Amino acid sequence: MAKKLGEKFPRLLPAPARKGISTADLIDGAFKAYNGGRLAEACRLFSGKMLAGGGTVGLSLTGALTPAGLGKSCLVPLLKAGFVDWIISTGANLYHDLHYGLGMELYAGSPFLDDVRLRHEGVIRIYDVLFDYDVLLDTDAFVRHVIQGAEFQKPMATDEFHFLLGKYVHERERRLGIPEHSLLAAAYKYGVPIFTSSPGDSSIGMNVAAMSLRDSKLAFDVNRDVNQTAAIVYDAKRSGGTSSVFILGGGSPKNFMLQTEPQIQEVMGIEERGHDYFLQCTDARPDTGGLSGATPGEAVSWGKIDPDRLPDCVVCYLDSTISLPLIAAYALTRTKPRKPKRLYERRDAMFEAIRAQYLKVGQVDKVEHRTDLAKRKPKRNLAKRAASVGSK
Ligand SMILES: NC(=O)c1ccc[n+]([C@@H]2O[C@H](COP(=O)([O-])OP(=O)(O)OC[C@H]3O[C@@H](n4cnc5c(N)ncnc54)[C@H](O)[C@@H]3O)[C@@H](O)[C@H]2O)c1
Repeated sequence: MAKKLGEKFPRLLPAPARKGISTADLIDGAFKAYNGGRLAEACRLFSGKMLAGGGTVGLSLTGALTPAGLGKSCLVPLLKAGFVDWIISTGANLYHDLHYGLGMELYAGSPFLDDVRLRHEGVIRIYDVLFDYDVLLDTDAFVRHVIQGAEFQKPMATDEFHFLLGKYVHERERRLGIPEHSLLAAAYKYGVPIFTSSPGDSSIGMNVAAMSLRDSKLAFDVNRDVNQTAAIVYDAKRSGGTSSVFILGGGSPKNFMLQTEPQIQEVMGIEERGHDYFLQCTDARPDTGGLSGATPGEAVSWGKIDPDRLPDCVVCYLDSTISLPLIAAYALTRTKPRKPKRLYERRDAMFEAIRAQYLKVGQVDKVEHRTDLAKRKPKRNLAKRAASVGSK
């Protein structure tokens, strides 16, 4: 029996931790089981498959990641290395990213403070992150000033809006001499499109809404967001490449990233099989039925994930503030930088390509149900997954 097991699975024989060990070596040598095992699988999936094949990588962001400094510490380096090609974020992560790009100060405080006193003293708390109320007011004023510019006076998709906003943050970083502080600025620099699935649900959206009560013509084109995100995935797949999703947290950005496939298949009637690689780090459980905790298997049933690729999917039940730095460090150590795909610069061409295909094959009537696509036998089994993803 033991021999049979050994043929199927790698032996659990960890390497000892030692002085000066690198993060990547520690993960490969000592993260062997339970959540540590899943994290090691996640690192190897991200580096060895999602990035190594040169495929397109989409990242979704939820939770208060940028207030905790994860934009500067991890996301900017990942973009710089060409490891993230497009992003869907909550507005909150982009709003709080602005503080870093504008040189404002946030502090590592404590979760055990008197909030009534903090309110009296004008201090904002996000768990153990503290900052002055003026940080909000100054950031709000920055957004309101910037969006008065002529280029903002029209309805636009959120990738265009964030690109234009990022241009101003990038310029502010340059003038302040604080390069590579902001995710928005890095996305502008490397041509990484950033979308938000709920543009009104953040302080950025609140300021845009207030300015519409004046003479601002800025509005968000959510239809373009839906079709543009689908266009990115269609572009990745039609040229024979892979589409990977790296999901931090869950929430609406998780669905917005995954729904690109049903948009292509179920709604537009274009033949497709689903995203190729799925990696999620979350605290959400699957048994409540909510999308945040929904497993990759459930996503397969919706056409969101290619059924053949299910064995390559990894879910880590970990706080992103722990998993993201580890996955980023691992990838930056084990994988050579990639040339940024600069998808933003191809946005119109990608949009026209999916539009043309939709107008060719799409219809208003009910789309034919292609169950034959879902019936193909998985090419790889669990044992092979253990050998290639979960072991080293
Ligand atoms: N000032 C602002 O602009 C502001 C501030 C906060 C929230 N918001 C808005 O509120 C909405 C909700 O945002 P949210 O990001 O707080 O989403 P959320 O709390 O709904 O979280 C989404 C999912 O991610 C998971 N998650 C959260 N933090 C995690 C972590 N550290 N590790 C692993 N999983 C984690 C949650 O369990 C949940 O399943 C967004 O639309 C956002 O823009 C705006």
